[in-house]
Amino acid sequence: MKQKIAVVGVGKLGLCFALNLEMVGFEVWGVEANHDYAIQLRRKDFDSDEPQVNEMLLASSSLIISDDISRIFQEDIVDIFLMVATPSLPDGGYDHSQIERVADRLMALGKSEKSRHIYIGCTTMPGYCAQLAKKLGEFGYTISYNPEFIAQGSIVRDQQFPDQVLIGECNEEVGDRLQAIYQAFVKSEAVYCRMDPLSAEITKLATNCFLTTKISFANSIGDLAKTAGADVNSILKAVGSDSRIGGKYLGYGFGFGGPCFPRDNRALGKYAESVGYPLRISNATDQVNEEHFQFQLKNYLESSSSSEIIVFEGVAYKQGTTQITESQQLRLAVALAKEGRKVTIKDSVGVIDQIRQLHPGLFQFETDLSAVG
Ligand SMILES: NC(=O)c1ccc[n+]([C@@H]2O[C@H](COP(=O)([O-])OP(=O)(O)OC[C@H]3O[C@@H](n4cnc5c(N)ncnc54)[C@H](O)[C@@H]3O)[C@@H](O)[C@H]2O)c1
Repeated sequence: MKQKIAVVGVGKLGLCFALNLEMVGFEVWGVEANHDYAIQLRRKDFDSDEPQVNEMLLASSSLIISDDISRIFQEDIVDIFLMVATPSLPDGGYDHSQIERVADRLMALGKSEKSRHIYIGCTTMPGYCAQLAKKLGEFGYTISYNPEFIAQGSIVRDQQFPDQVLIGECNEEVGDRLQAIYQAFVKSEAVYCRMDPLSAEITKLATNCFLTTKISFANSIGDLAKTAGADVNSILKAVGSDSRIGGKYLGYGFGFGGPCFPRDNRALGKYAESVGYPLRISNATDQVNEEHFQFQLKNYLESSSSSEIIVFEGVAYKQGTTQITESQQLRLAVALAKEGRKVTIKDSVGVIDQIRQLHPGLFQFETDLSAVG
């Protein structure tokens, strides 16, 4: 008999994870609150932008989508991955209310006779897992933290070939159990980084804070080189050739954006403040990203005339996605257009539709049929 696993919240992250589990022989119960979306998944006619997802969904035979969380009890499922959204709050922290709603539903079902294990895949504020463990512990659930290091546009692949699997385990036995689930589908020589949940919560944010810092560093050195009349790319290539540094995320270009980097960096700063250790690096990185944006804007304005057409080829935060959240490319395009420059955006239909709604009449568009979405 197949081992049953629940994935609560089969959105961008959860669906890929559920499909990866299903593909290696687990029976996966995807619990999804969005009724219309759940129907699409059940009918297998959901059209995802993520590579491999449509094919995997069509080929799946053991992915069962339900909107009823009590199926966890009925199906006697012990391993429960939680992958609901944790949007950012205006103060830089995370809104855990979707997780809370799942917890409330589980508590309403009563105390579980056997111990069940919840693995939080959502990005949380450090310390949140401990709070949740207090709340759900007496109802028979353990809480471990297990975030993913993935990027949109390559989620399925990133889950199959991670550098590291981060396991913030509530105890060693549960950590072993979680590691075994990963070992069933991970195809890389991943390092299993096992620690307590609080350390894992900090690790997740620290990783993205490091990457945003590296991007900001590269852009600052690039801006300096441009100001001084030096060769930006040669400098960064040489710096990145040092194996202690490495060339990844060390190119000169747009500032960091997207749904994870900026908010994880800010959240770490917010958390650090809350424990009385102001983490200057996280604030500085954010500030440098802003300064770089202003530098680029000034450069574009100075080096182009108002009659010239400025073309942006792709304004999603990352190539291969339709995600425009905190895209610095789009932000620059908007700022230039608002300064009276003629701006054409060349991108996929999916991206163009979003921009038309957000900024009616601001741009000219060219559809890029080779772009995703
Ligand atoms: N998408 C990414 O690139 C990415 C990367 C790293 C980490 N994360 C983290 O993963 C988590 C999930 O992100 P996402 O992008 O997949 O979010 P998403 O919004 O795409 O998916 C969340 C899903 O959960 C469902 N949901 C909400 N409440 C529910 C409930 N009570 N019961 C069942 N389903 C419910 C929603 O309907 C939705 O389908 C977040 O914490 C995010 O920070 C996401």
